[in-house]
Amino acid sequence: MENIIKDIDIIRDEEEKSCDVAITAEESTGKTKKLYIESYGCQMNFSDSEIVASIMKDHGFDTTSDFTSADVIFLNTCSIREKAEQTVRKRLSQFNQVKSENPELTIGVLGCMAERLKEKLLEEEKLVDLVVGPDAYRDLPNLVGQAEEGNKGVNTFLSREETYADISPVRLNSNGVTAFISIMRGCDNMCSFCVVPFTRGRERSRDPHSIVKEARELFEKGYKEVTLLGQNVDSYKWSAEENNKARLTKKETALSEVIHFSDLLEMVALVDPKLRVRFSTSHPKDITDEVLLTMKRHDNICKYIHLPVQSGNSRVLALMNRTYDRDWYLDRVRKIREILGEDCGISSDMIAGFCTETESEHQDTLSMMDLVQYDFSYMFYYSERPGTLAAKKLPDDVPLEIKKRRLQEIIEKQNQLSLMRNQRDIGRVQEILIEGQSKRSAAQLKGRNSANKVVIVPSQGLAVGDYVQVRITDCSSATLFGEVIDR
Ligand code: SAH
Ligand code: SF4
Ligand code: F3S
Repeated sequence: MENIIKDIDIIRDEEEKSCDVAITAEESTGKTKKLYIESYGCQMNFSDSEIVASIMKDHGFDTTSDFTSADVIFLNTCSIREKAEQTVRKRLSQFNQVKSENPELTIGVLGCMAERLKEKLLEEEKLVDLVVGPDAYRDLPNLVGQAEEGNKGVNTFLSREETYADISPVRLNSNGVTAFISIMRGCDNMCSFCVVPFTRGRERSRDPHSIVKEARELFEKGYKEVTLLGQNVDSYKWSAEENNKARLTKKETALSEVIHFSDLLEMVALVDPKLRVRFSTSHPKDITDEVLLTMKRHDNICKYIHLPVQSGNSRVLALMNRTYDRDWYLDRVRKIREILGEDCGISSDMIAGFCTETESEHQDTLSMMDLVQYDFSYMFYYSERPGTLAAKKLPDDVPLEIKKRRLQEIIEKQNQLSLMRNQRDIGRVQEILIEGQSKRSAAQLKGRNSANKVVIVPSQGLAVGDYVQVRITDCSSATLFGEVIDR
């Protein structure tokens, strides 16, 4: 068993950095059965695992961090790139051993791979008992019950309504300070490279009142920061009328209103000035000046925007179906700088070697990076996904070595930019929120500044959850180092 635990670190190292893995923490409330969840992919998946834990808790399961003592193992999976799926396949093959030692064990595959592969997963991976897509988690207790009686099950029904708004997530791996809140599900954008619209279904927004309630409850429990999550938060839209047509009384219809993302952001920011608010992801085509102005009005909305560009070339962007071009994107960045200033953090996602990308088009991505001066980027080479528009219509014709070389150039460029952007902070005083122990030393704590940069400080009697004023004294391309000047 030890080997398996070690192996997970090996898999993680091979994977791209953003494809992290999270494991459930131990939570004993005297329930009879134990659930172990491993989550891959994006924050949305990590957030969904908290909903899954909550649903299972109501049906007799505590969570565990030790899969050898679990009655049920769930892998909440990602399909975004081929590598992400390979990681899960490797992990499943390791669980074969566990299952042979404990035939009573139920193994479920949840998330995007479940949705993409459906019944096929049961055929291909013999040890799997359940395949459950992202909108079908309310059915999990029922499916687990059936599996315990020897019946394998699949539910990959995608919903137009499901938002899990009424489920109070069990905070897994929580530092007690920062938490994610899903504000919408699905995606209607159909970027040609992307599998998400197929695995997550249609876009739908969650009732703003349930979002604010969740933020308030978190704050009351001592949390200091919430991150509002969606594939494209700027297209958040909630109208009571649309969502509740059937149930609305006449009086309520008269009161109905349309709430956009900027309104929601303000509603959450008003929960308390000591509750920091972040959000992710912003789509360049949709981010509005109202959102930027709302960020400016509230000190507790962090000055950081994840604004994935994918490519710096307009022809490639059109093939990607991103629906903006280079000039539009640069204009949005100009607006961010105009309203929020030079210090606002901006990060991006980049794809190297998309279908038909030429060398000079790749150079446009590098020059775009210089123009925007990203603080940080998640960088990938293109991986064709079955069923997407690009897979159907475009040739995956950039050879792997060239994809990798272009990606390396993008990574090197980003490292230089990150270092430059971090060096600007040296000598400045910034407020940071302490989130936990530094990985390197028990005598140091780590926090983040408003622009989402990690800052390491000496512990000096500070506690997790404290807001402190820090003078930045040094940096690397990944981290800032500081001294505490005021609590
Ligand atoms: N909704 C977000 C992105 C979610 S997926 C947005 O629109 O920006 C996260 C990132 O994975 C994408 O931004 C993209 O850079 C990358 N990605 C998605 N599909 C990919 C593929 N087929 N190959 C390589 N990278 C991909
Ligand atoms: Fe994928 Fe595009 Fe939707 Fe992002 S906006 S999830 S890249 S389809
Ligand atoms: Fe992966 Fe699904 Fe998120 S494909 S990136 S887990 S939405």
